[in-house]
Amino acid sequence: MSIGESAPPVPDVFDPRRYAEGVPYSAYRTLRDHHPVAWQEEPEVLGWPAGPGFWAVTRHADVVRVLKDSATFSSWLGATQIRDPDPADLPFIRRMMLNQDASAHGRLRRLVSRAFTPRRIDRFAAVVRRRAQALCAGALDRARAGDGTCDVVSAITDDYALLNLADLLGVPESDRALLLHWTRRVIGYQDPDEVGEPLRDAEGRPVNPRSPSALRDMFAYVRQLADRKRTHPGDDIMTALATDPELAGPELEMFFFLLTIAGNDTVRSAAPGGLLALAEHPGAYQRLRTQPGELGLAVDELLRWHPPVLSFRRTASRDTELAGQQIRAGDKVVVFHASANRDERAFAAPDRLDLARTPNPHVSFGDGPHVCLGVHFARLQLRVLYQAALESLPDLCLAAPPRRLVSNFINGIKALSLQLT
Ligand code: HEM
Repeated sequence: MSIGESAPPVPDVFDPRRYAEGVPYSAYRTLRDHHPVAWQEEPEVLGWPAGPGFWAVTRHADVVRVLKDSATFSSWLGATQIRDPDPADLPFIRRMMLNQDASAHGRLRRLVSRAFTPRRIDRFAAVVRRRAQALCAGALDRARAGDGTCDVVSAITDDYALLNLADLLGVPESDRALLLHWTRRVIGYQDPDEVGEPLRDAEGRPVNPRSPSALRDMFAYVRQLADRKRTHPGDDIMTALATDPELAGPELEMFFFLLTIAGNDTVRSAAPGGLLALAEHPGAYQRLRTQPGELGLAVDELLRWHPPVLSFRRTASRDTELAGQQIRAGDKVVVFHASANRDERAFAAPDRLDLARTPNPHVSFGDGPHVCLGVHFARLQLRVLYQAALESLPDLCLAAPPRRLVSNFINGIKALSLQLT
């Protein structure tokens, strides 16, 4: 920008409907270059009431700083979603470790990490591999039986994420559709394709899907499942948690809720997002077929390229300054992972997909005390799925534009039609 020119206006990156058109990368770039900590209005959208507005943080270094400094940027004060929870629901939402700080968070994180050991997760690898191979073969059959195209979301990735998570948690076969129902209700609540009409209270106002009244059926189910695990233990996370004397009943219920959402929709977004990137970069796909040794790096580059989580919210616990911007105690501060992952200050040629990129300090799994607990399981699932695709699908070619989720939180893909034969 030369002398005399003024900075461009602050673009809106809040409206969830924008994301159905694609991640607003050029708006993010304007923010990073000119307004790295920018005020965003929060108008009423799709019947959801207006909010007070928030600071959008878009540069990599500032995103990392916010995520690491949980004493200043709290997950507990206003929880972690952009939309403010109903104040009456806040005590309930704060029972989840995602929405806690400091020692309370540390205690729960230590307890559940004991159930989440890499050894336990690696024991699922063979089942995950067979599932990936079967789903890819099924997709190919579907394509061959028709016009050569297949929607890989309904044929492969939705079931893959859900069934892997159900195995890890120890949810019986017959109950697996329930998991999908709950995750759709919570994550897709702004998208009519996902939920139909939202739940409403007696006055006709939409009910926040994270409120206790909307979750009653799920919690009743968890109590039954925990009882069953105590009498019929298995090698799964729910058995480990239900039999841990240090974990109280309501903590277990909240943890099941957290895993159902955090462990499903993220992989459900990452998997089609990675396949879409590969379909859009056929040269990279063919190279990977000849050099499968690079698959580990490729998984992370595909996560940088298509981060499943678009944003997380914190609340300032005191007055502070970020990138020259004054922030007041109580202000909402929202980090934008997809913007940080394309920051020219942190990545060489960030708009180029480089499957061998190293180092790759992407923030798709977050950073700081809340960094994703499911990293190992997520990477395992993605590596195995891409491996199965590389072995069985010679070409991935985009047959129609993908259909995207209306959400400023999850970078969801609802349909991805690929030409497979
Ligand atoms: C590609 C897939 C995934 C991505 C991109 C992802 C991303 C994230 C991110 C960004 C956070 C940080 C939240 C914050 O800053 O407040 C997080 C936390 C978390 N994730 Fe994941 N996740 C993925 C898969 C999974 C899986 C498969 C599981 C479990 C089965 C899981 C369990 C969790 C849990 C329990 C937390 C909360 C950690 C805490 O509060 O200390 N995630 N994830």
